[in-house]
Parts: sequence; structure tokens; C-alpha cells
Amino acid sequence: MDANLARLQSVTPPEGESFADSLLHGLGKTPKEIACKYFYDEAGSRLFDAICELPEYYQTRTEIALLRRHAGEIAGLMGPNVEILEFGAGSLRKVRILLDAAHAPIAYTPLDISGDYLKTVVHALAADYPALALRPLVGDFTRPLALPALPDNPRRVGFFPGSTIGNFKPDAAMALLRAMRASLNGGGLLAGVDLVKDPVKLHAAYNDAAGITALFNKNLLMRANRELGADFDPEGFAHYAPYNAAAHRIEMYLISLRRQSVSLCGRPFEFAAGEPVHTEDSHKYTIESFREMACRAGFNPRAVWTDEERLFSVHWLESR
Ligand code: TRP
Repeated sequence: MDANLARLQSVTPPEGESFADSLLHGLGKTPKEIACKYFYDEAGSRLFDAICELPEYYQTRTEIALLRRHAGEIAGLMGPNVEILEFGAGSLRKVRILLDAAHAPIAYTPLDISGDYLKTVVHALAADYPALALRPLVGDFTRPLALPALPDNPRRVGFFPGSTIGNFKPDAAMALLRAMRASLNGGGLLAGVDLVKDPVKLHAAYNDAAGITALFNKNLLMRANRELGADFDPEGFAHYAPYNAAAHRIEMYLISLRRQSVSLCGRPFEFAAGEPVHTEDSHKYTIESFREMACRAGFNPRAVWTDEERLFSVHWLESR
């Protein structure tokens, strides 16, 4: 065992809605929907890592390049002896850039909804950073978090990359930023945000030629089959992800390709031919519109970095 690695701890109250409850509720609505946090079981987390490597998905590589290019400045803003708390930590790839640049970081706290995946990826990090206290947490970062205190109470900074903020409707995004500010105890937040751009480029990023995004979307149905014994036919649904320019967002759906009935937890669900199931939104911001929202959430937006093509942005927000 790695001495610097704490045991995986759960930080969201157990009385939370289960996948089954949420699915029964969402598929009972008109129009039907499935909550996007359920994308990320272990299989979904791996598919998402594959999305991040796709030629069409410019977001990950652009953000990584920005973090690398400005790591020194970011480390200066974060200050010495910090705890980095990452919201939706995934593969733990990006944080290495921060850890390598940071001045004597004390602790790293990755929070992710996929405990199985987090357990697998956290070991490599523990071995590579033996002086760092690693405290992996499984939980839903949209719910109140009971964060255990660290021995010397180091100053905490937040890390929220990948434009995950875009997966929330503007009102929910603002509420989430507020809640994050509360859990940071006055520390700053480093957030990655995808920018409004040519719709053709946006469309391609969510409709890749290899069909990985389609598999990722359909993993919701396969997960319901695996975990809940549902009988979705993934071939009976199509991945559909148009860009809604007026709302500045990619909207993701699974479209029923025929009239069909699916059994879930002993209940039948009817799908009409062509009926959509909404699975995700990915809102795009301008640098200004994101900074304005951060302001309204109680942050002072400070530094912002973007690439030459203005594809993506990384923001340093200070708590007010
Ligand atoms: N935060 C990512 C984004 O909005 C999540 C994402 C990328 C995603 N590709 C996806 C979510 C495909 C669902 C389906 O870009």
C-alpha cells in the first residue's frame, strides 16, 4: 500500500437518489430525459477518456496545452502549501501539471462520482507523488459535501477542468459555483471553460467519425441493462447531438429509431418512433459571459488564459 494514500471515502449522504429512481423518474417525464451524471460508471469513464483523445475533441488537448504553458503563473496564484480539491477528477491526468508546478503542495483531494474508476487510477498518482497526501473521495459534487478536515488545515484551492461547468444549465451552473466557493473556505478556483465558436467545429467535437461519443451516450442504456436488468436494445437508439446556436449549447439525445417498449424495474416504458431522450447539454461561454457568471456566484475573476484560436479558456477565480 502507498503510505500517502488514504482509503476511498464517500462524501455524499447515502440517502441520495439512486440510478434506478432517477431513471424511472426521467423516463416517466415528457419529454424523456436521463441525468448526465450517470454517464460515468467505470465503462463510461473509460469511454470518456477515449473521447478526450479524439482528433475532433479539441477541448482536452487545448486545455492541457494552456495548463502547461501557464503552469508557473498558476502555481504562483495558488500559492504554497495548498490542498488541491478537484471536482470530477476522472483520469487524474491534468492535475499532474499543477502538482509539478505547485510550490510544495500538501494534499490532493480528487472527488469523483465513479468510485471504482477513481480507485484504479489513484494508485499510479500515489506512487509518483510520495510526499503528497492523497485523499480520494467518491461523491456527487452537486450535493452538499462533508469534506473531512486535513491535519494542518492547509489552504484549499479548487480545480474544475474539462468544461464540466457547461454541463449545467446557467442557473444550476451558478448555484454550483456558489456551492464550490463555500467548500473552498476562501480559496480560489481554477476552471476550464469551452468557448462559443464555429458551430461546425462544435458539432464535430460531439459527433466524432469513430463513433466513440455515440457509444458513450448509449452506455447509459447499457448501464441500465447491466445494473438494473433493463432490456434496452442499444441498436434501437441513435446518438443525436445538434448545436443549438441560440442557447449556445450542444444538446445530446438518444433517439428511439422505432416504436418500442422497454422494461425497467418491472415497468414498461413506451418509446415512439423518433422520440428523443435528452441526456446532456454542453453550454458554451464567451470569456466575458463566464466571468460575469463567476462574479454573480461570488468570485472575483482574475487571470484568464486562452489559446491563439480562442477555442478554450482557463480561469483563475478568487473568492470574494
Ligand atoms: N464536459 C464535457 C463537455 O461538455 C463532457 C462531454 C464531452 C460529453 N463529450 C461528451 C458528455 C459527450 C456527453 C457526451 O465537452
